[in-house]
Amino acid sequence: MTNFLDINATSPGDLRAIIDNAKAMKVARNGRPKGALDDDQPLAGQMVALIFEKPSTRTRVSFDVGVRQMGGQTMVLSGKEMQLGHGETIADTARVLSRYVDLIMIRTFEEQTLLEMAEYASVPVINGLTNRTHPCQIMADIQTFEEHRGSIAGKKVVWSGDGNNVCASFIHAAGQFGFDLTFTGPQTLDPEAGFVEEARAKGANIVIERDPFKAVEGADLVVTDTWVSMHDPVSARERRHNQLRGYQVNEALMRQAKPDALFMHCLPAHRDDEATSAVMDGPNSVIFDEAENRLHAQKAIMRYCLGV
Ligand code: CP
Ligand code: NVA
Repeated sequence: MTNFLDINATSPGDLRAIIDNAKAMKVARNGRPKGALDDDQPLAGQMVALIFEKPSTRTRVSFDVGVRQMGGQTMVLSGKEMQLGHGETIADTARVLSRYVDLIMIRTFEEQTLLEMAEYASVPVINGLTNRTHPCQIMADIQTFEEHRGSIAGKKVVWSGDGNNVCASFIHAAGQFGFDLTFTGPQTLDPEAGFVEEARAKGANIVIERDPFKAVEGADLVVTDTWVSMHDPVSARERRHNQLRGYQVNEALMRQAKPDALFMHCLPAHRDDEATSAVMDGPNSVIFDEAENRLHAQKAIMRYCLGV
């Protein structure tokens, strides 16, 4: 069973093959309308379940469109409306769904839900975001960086803000793709120490720097994300805003990075909180390329999982 559960759970060789395939499939579409089928129809006759226990725009639409372009069909399911949200176990849900569909993508809260789904399903399972990680996003981000600047190996990536699920997958990627990552943010919002140690053990230079202006010196890429994630309590909002204000990505901060440093944000953004509109809409921002590449990267991930 080939799942796509996390970047640190997939071999560097497989990750590279997925990125290269995503780039090739994007080129092969050659500007055709979004609803047009790909030349290859590797998912013909296949049914994909897309389960959401949290809101989504990009993940939902990009997976749905991607499956259809490859000739498959989708079923978008809200966790709340499934028996899963009313007490049925994940294990039973996984075994039932496996009798109907060929692939499961799930966006959920606890990582344990994803892992149990993968353990009990007899079809591949893809992580569409948990409280802990967001691997599909970072595959799209690696593709995006490389389309603009070539290989990401050896480059300096700076994460400014909350050491959240998206940050965690960037740290995993640093270990697997061989780039350096500097985290800058308040100590209380540091990324998980275990993720940092694991990436360091794989040879990545992971630095924690409290001063954002020092952190971004020499950066090839500056990344941020919302200060309050979907799983964070709403009551944490004010405190987080106070803690993170100094880590806003604005033009003054970007000036400390390399002149051609790219800016990324997985979106949705809270404009003029974690990043200013001047940066988000500026010449070095690639936020909408990232969003587009969710489509291409995930198509390659689904082909990898299904072996087609
Ligand atoms: N970046 C991302 O996963 O966006 P959605 O929450 O809209 O899916
Ligand atoms: N860190 C954000 C990412 C959203 C795509 C969240 O989990 O809400």
